[in-house]
Amino acid sequence: MAATWNSTDKFNREASQWDENPQRRAVALCVAKAIIAATNPNKIMRALEVGCGTGLVSMEIAPLLKSLLAVDTSREMLAVLQEKIRISGMANIETSCTNLSESTETALKAKKFELIYSSMTLHHIDDTAGFLKRLSDLLCPGGIVALADLDVEDGLFHDDPLEKVHYGFDRIELAALLDAAGLQVTSFETIYTFNKTNRSGILAAYPVFLVTAKKASS
Ligand SMILES: C[S@@+](CC[C@H](N)C(=O)[O-])C[C@H]1O[C@@H](n2cnc3c(N)ncnc32)[C@H](O)[C@@H]1O
Repeated sequence: MAATWNSTDKFNREASQWDENPQRRAVALCVAKAIIAATNPNKIMRALEVGCGTGLVSMEIAPLLKSLLAVDTSREMLAVLQEKIRISGMANIETSCTNLSESTETALKAKKFELIYSSMTLHHIDDTAGFLKRLSDLLCPGGIVALADLDVEDGLFHDDPLEKVHYGFDRIELAALLDAAGLQVTSFETIYTFNKTNRSGILAAYPVFLVTAKKASS
């Protein structure tokens, strides 16, 4: 089978067991804490999470916000999140099955956000520059983007060699792409390190960064 950037089927298959992985829960909690510390979410902010999965990050951040739109391309991931929302009674989270890597995407056209964040999603999106520009267009003037993802890795982090992903990101190159999208980097920090046996059977360290960047106030 040919390598593909479209991993929706894989995430649909994994959704019901996604939260059972303790390392996934741990990284999501670290990401949520780091986003909260770096962006000071508050009750007047409308936020967007891109690639929310089962909502491991957003269930921590949503109570601090006015509203949250959680989008993902996997309906099964969203179904798990919708059940969490139902059980918790949180009224300020909406979900949407939306592909943010498509330039034809229209579901969000009329919307603007003070905060946009993602966790471990950027490496699944082929056109990083186009994606960052789309996020910038969705931000209000003065809005903040916060992206958590892998630093440059050896290409062995993902178990499936056919899964098409970026092998992490070089911080200087990512800062330049953010800048080109009209987003000024305000912080870049290491917030977590995966220690995992990679698909070559070697125990390796994979650091995760959080970058925050701000759109100019007009
Ligand atoms: C590695 S998972 C991370 C999920 C969640 N953020 C977490 O930390 O548990 C990446 C998620 O991004 C979603 N995704 C991938 N490409 C996407 C796109 N173009 N637009 C929206 N979601 C996307 C996948 O369906 C998946 O749920």
